[in-house]
Amino acid sequence: MRLDRFLSETTPLTRSLAKRALKNGEVTLNGELIKQAATQVNTESDDVKLNGETLSLVGLRYLMMHKPVDVECTARRGLYPRVIDLIDLPKVERLQPVGRLDVDTTGLLLLTDDGQWSHRVTSPRHRCAKVYVADLAEPVEDQAAQWAIDQVAEGIMLDGEETPTQPAVLRFITPYQAELTITEGRYHQVKRMFAALGNHVSSLHRRSIGDIVLPDNLAPGEWRELTPEEIAGF
Ligand code: URA
Repeated sequence: MRLDRFLSETTPLTRSLAKRALKNGEVTLNGELIKQAATQVNTESDDVKLNGETLSLVGLRYLMMHKPVDVECTARRGLYPRVIDLIDLPKVERLQPVGRLDVDTTGLLLLTDDGQWSHRVTSPRHRCAKVYVADLAEPVEDQAAQWAIDQVAEGIMLDGEETPTQPAVLRFITPYQAELTITEGRYHQVKRMFAALGNHVSSLHRRSIGDIVLPDNLAPGEWRELTPEEIAGF
């Protein structure tokens, strides 16, 4: 593996920041100062240090993916390919989805092996906003739309649950399409909220989590590492 890629996979540094660290003389390979980003690293046996700290490929990693349909967020192999099957990184099975998406849901999925960070993103206590766009089977207009907006703002009792959903924000883009912003992550929450409103979600897409918005240039199935700023935002 190239040294700059090794650095970007074992630290929060991006490829370009890794190159800068190399230029600045912050990196050693088996005790020797190295400045060339293209230097090859044997990831099993070489000792790479950044500012004196040994780097290991199994360190903390933070990724975003544009999850396509028919891909599962589970760790076990099943009927569909898993999201980690789309990621060509060493020790990929260590990465866990941060808040799962259903197999038929598309959009922004975060993955990490940092359990504490994951908890900060998903725990309802942290009130991290997740924005979904739902296509609806039934059109919703005028008074019905306002009623649905008010219900969602107050909190909805979902089938089989004892506490209502946290106040959330519903906005209709068209009568057949709505944007829903929630701060929890209950099981099938968005689909169940629309079911409680008497509708049916025909397709669902997650647009953003906190300040991280799915970039337009990330096609379904593609992923990239989060930037240090994106990681620090939670
Ligand atoms: N809510 C759902 O119903 N499904 C998802 O995939 C995510 C949120």
